[in-house]
Amino acid sequence: MAEVDGKVVGNSEVTRGTLTDEFYHGKLGILLLKEFRNQGIGHEMINTLVEESRKAGLKTIELEVFATNEQAVHVYETAGFRRVGKIPKKIFRNGKFTDVIVMAIEL
Ligand SMILES: CC(C)(COP(=O)(O)OP(=O)(O)OC[C@H]1O[C@@H](n2cnc3c(N)ncnc32)[C@H](O)[C@@H]1OP(=O)(O)O)[C@@H](O)C(=O)NCCC(=O)NCCS
Repeated sequence: MAEVDGKVVGNSEVTRGTLTDEFYHGKLGILLLKEFRNQGIGHEMINTLVEESRKAGLKTIELEVFATNEQAVHVYETAGFRRVGKIPKKIFRNGKFTDVIVMAIEL
């Protein structure tokens, strides 16, 4: 969680795989309130998630991000995530298809 002046402004998580053979793999999600974006909080949260995942013994983390979300892709790449694939037209929202990029990091 990210907190500014006692207010929760962001949430993030890495969920460990529930299947036995995905015990060392996690999935990452993150969301910050709009007015608290672009202040370096996201970078810090992702670095913390990576660090804590490593401490918890995870070996890999994956995430999915809209291909149009260049900012998030940049933040993930800075933290060491790499693009490992793309799912064309995965999302159908407001009458429009959007590709999703799959990213992963080896810890
Ligand atoms: C994606 C998100 C977590 C990033 O957190 P943040 O606190 O806003 O990001 P930071 O302030 O740490 O870093 C922003 C970086 O993006 C860069 N950036 C800003 N707009 C950009 C754009 N349009 N394209 C590429 N990079 C961009 C900034 O230059 C900065 O990088 P730098 O520090 O290397 O210069 C946050 O914006 C968010 O919650 N967005 C909405 C939800 C979302 O997209 N979640 C991820 C879905 S997978």
